[in-house]
Amino acid sequence: MYEDYQKILAELKEKSHFRDLKNYEGKDEKYIYFKGKKLLNLSSNNYLNFADNKKITKEFLDFAGDKYSFGSASARLLTGTLPVYKDLEDLLSKLYNKESTLLYNSGYHANVGISSALCQKGDVVFSDKLNHASIIDGMKLSDGKFFRYPHNDMEALERLLKRERANYKNAFIITESVFSMDGDIADLKKIVELKKKYNCIMIIDEAHAFGVFGGKCLGVADELGIIDEIDLIVGTFGKAIGSMGAFVTGSKVMIDFLINKSRSFIFSTALPPINIAFTKWIIENKLTINNRQKKMLSIAQKMGSQSHIIPVVIGGNKETVDLCDVLFHNGYFTLPIRPPTVPVGTSRIRLSLTADIEEDELKNLKDIINESVLAK
Ligand SMILES: Cc1ncc(COP(=O)(O)O)c(C=O)c1O
Repeated sequence: MYEDYQKILAELKEKSHFRDLKNYEGKDEKYIYFKGKKLLNLSSNNYLNFADNKKITKEFLDFAGDKYSFGSASARLLTGTLPVYKDLEDLLSKLYNKESTLLYNSGYHANVGISSALCQKGDVVFSDKLNHASIIDGMKLSDGKFFRYPHNDMEALERLLKRERANYKNAFIITESVFSMDGDIADLKKIVELKKKYNCIMIIDEAHAFGVFGGKCLGVADELGIIDEIDLIVGTFGKAIGSMGAFVTGSKVMIDFLINKSRSFIFSTALPPINIAFTKWIIENKLTINNRQKKMLSIAQKMGSQSHIIPVVIGGNKETVDLCDVLFHNGYFTLPIRPPTVPVGTSRIRLSLTADIEEDELKNLKDIINESVLAK
C-alpha cells in the first residue's frame, strides 16, 4: 500500500537527500549537546542567544508571574485577542512608525497568508528567485500570476517590470532583506526606486535581519533609513528574538484587508499569551544592546559575508555531509543544506553566527574548511 512512498524515500537516501530528525540532548545559549558532545552551535537562528538562556528565562518568568496563560484557546477573530496581543502590535507599529501591525503564528503563516490574500486575480507578484519557501507557497496559493527574477538582479527585475507590469492591475515586489541561505542582502534602495517607477507594492521579509540590523534593531530597512518607503514589512520572532511568531506592519487598509482575507491568520488558534508577552518583553528590555550585533557582524564580514549567515558552498551532497561530520568531531555543530532548500549542485554548510561566539573559537573551523575546499 505504501510502496510509492517507500520508493521515493529510497531514492532520497541514495542521493543523500534524505532528512531525518535528530534527537539533541540539549541546548544552552551558543552550545548544543549531541551524541555525548558539547558543540559550538553554528546552525542556529538564535542570533542573540535569547532562546535556551536560563538567565533570560528566569528574568522573564519573575516578571510574568502568573499573568499570562499557556494557551489562547481561540483564533484572534473569535475570543483570542487579549490585551497583550494588541500591546505587542501597537509597540511594533510605534517602532516602525506604521499605521497598523498584525501578528501571525509564524513567519511561514505570515508569508503564506499575505501574498495569497493580497495578490488577487489580475494581479502579479515579482519575487526574488531565492525567496523563502513560505513566500513561494503564498504565491502558489494566490489567484494572481507570479514571476521570479534572478537573485538580486536588479536589471533583470526592471526588464521584467517593463515587459509585464502593464498587463496587471496590482503588482507586488517581494524580497527577503537578508537572504536565509546565502546571507547576502537585497538592494532595497534600488527596489524602492523600481517600485515607485512601476507603481508596485513592496513587501520585504526581514526574518533574519529583525533584531540584528539597524539603529533600532528593526532590520535592514531601519539600517538604510527607508522604512517609510516600504509598504509592508514582515519580521519573525523565532530567530533573533528567541521566541515564536511573526508580524507584518504597514498601512491600516492593508492590515485590515489581511485581518479579513488572510486565511492563515483567520483559521488558526492564536499563539499562547505567555509567548506574546515574552516577545514583547524581549523587544522592550533586551533589544537595545547593539554592540553584540556589531561584534557578530564584524566577525562575519571577515569571513566574507554581508551578514551573520555565512554560506560555505561545497557543491555535492555527500561532500557536504562529510565535511559536517569532520566539523562535528572537532567540536562544531553544522548542518548540510541540500536541494530542494538550495539549487542542485550548490549544497552547502550554512554557518550562522550568534552574538556570544568569539572570533578565536572559529579559528580551527576556518582551517578545516579551507583544507577541505583546497583538497577538492
Ligand atoms: C526568510 C524567511 N522567512 C520566513 C521564515 C519562516 O519563519 P518561521 O520559522 O517563523 O515560520 C523563514 C524560516 O526559516 C525564513 O528564513
